[in-house]
Amino acid sequence: MQLDLEFVRQQFSQLNDNPEIVFASNAGGSLVCNQVNDLMDHYNRHTRVQPYSRFTPSQEAGQAMDRAKQAWADALNISLSELTMGPSTSMNTYVMAQAIGATWNEGDEIIVTNQDHEANSGSWRRKALEKGVTIKQWAVDKETGLLDPNQLFALLSSKTRWVFFTHCSNIVGTENPVADITKQIKAQSNAKVFVDAVAHAPHHIADLKQLGVDAYTFSLYKVFGPHQSILYVSQIVHAELKSQAHYFNSGHPEYDFNPAGPQHAQVAACAGVIDYFDALHQHHFGETSVSQSQKMADIHPLIQAHENDLSQPILSYLDNHSQVHLIGKTHIEDNDRAPTIAFKPLKQSSASLAASLQKAGIGTENGNFYAHRLITDLGFDADDGVVRISLLHYDRAQDVEKIILELDKALG
Ligand SMILES: Cc1ncc(COP(=O)(O)O)c(C=O)c1O
Repeated sequence: MQLDLEFVRQQFSQLNDNPEIVFASNAGGSLVCNQVNDLMDHYNRHTRVQPYSRFTPSQEAGQAMDRAKQAWADALNISLSELTMGPSTSMNTYVMAQAIGATWNEGDEIIVTNQDHEANSGSWRRKALEKGVTIKQWAVDKETGLLDPNQLFALLSSKTRWVFFTHCSNIVGTENPVADITKQIKAQSNAKVFVDAVAHAPHHIADLKQLGVDAYTFSLYKVFGPHQSILYVSQIVHAELKSQAHYFNSGHPEYDFNPAGPQHAQVAACAGVIDYFDALHQHHFGETSVSQSQKMADIHPLIQAHENDLSQPILSYLDNHSQVHLIGKTHIEDNDRAPTIAFKPLKQSSASLAASLQKAGIGTENGNFYAHRLITDLGFDADDGVVRISLLHYDRAQDVEKIILELDKALG
């Protein structure tokens, strides 16, 4: 079975605005599906009052928020008390650094990578410095940007408290095998595992119990939704951490790690992303009673096959071009390569190449994408950075053709 791309594209009304535009900066933020826009519009027009009171619009507002939270907990195969909806992933990691960092003592160790976006690096590093905790870095290969799990295992010790890494870098684009890595970490140490899935979730909503991680976070504005972030903290870890909420809200799982307070309309509209995935599932598999997380597993191969088809010609083109340093895996092998393709042009700046593509109607970008440490370690200028072409499953083969044509003109 193949992904019905026409059906997919009908769910994103912005694609109709200008069909000539190639949406290739999705790792910065995805388009929003119609289901989300409809819920947001409905909330703001009809239920925009303080939620959870007993009068009608307020009850409806609370129910809409509850529906979204339950739908996301089900999709991730976690319990409601393990889910926080925060304002952004950067805020989630900042707040969690206060909660987790409070349990650290001088002489403890943490492991971070230089492959991560700064959101999953800086907060932990700062907190570790404050507490006299040793920071060990799981370093990337300086040519490819890839991480070797064996190098991580060699860093583990009896003092390792947490390991922080990414499910998929927003630049390298290769999926780190989270379940295997986590299993090994747990077999060899008492360390806990925190994973940033911002660049992975747009391609697949994972079953978190299967991954076995202790905490996991990603941003819904990159997964067809509103500007919200999902944070999973396992029940066991949650119980070990101090609440970061107002003292009188402490002990309410959904507030413990979200001192910002919920953004009501956005939270309610998060259900629209699941409604979109449901529609996708129903369209391809018919009416079924499988669990929400099983639906995610069912649609994943369809999305992945289409995304692989999009990536492969661009990867091949760039890999064979002598004036380009392609980052990450150069081809699709084990279904672990997201269509997030970054490269450094060798004969011109990334900014000038990105500008040429943009002029041709290709929405792409250049820069460090807040993975400043990675870009620096790869030996590139951190401001000019790399050019990133990041696709999602609503992109088309004709978009890829246009990208390669314009790349060819711009690279010469
Ligand atoms: C891999 C990765 N992690 C974390 C973040 C930060 O997410 P947020 O903007 O929700 O703070 C981003 C944003 O681009 C990202 O790409």
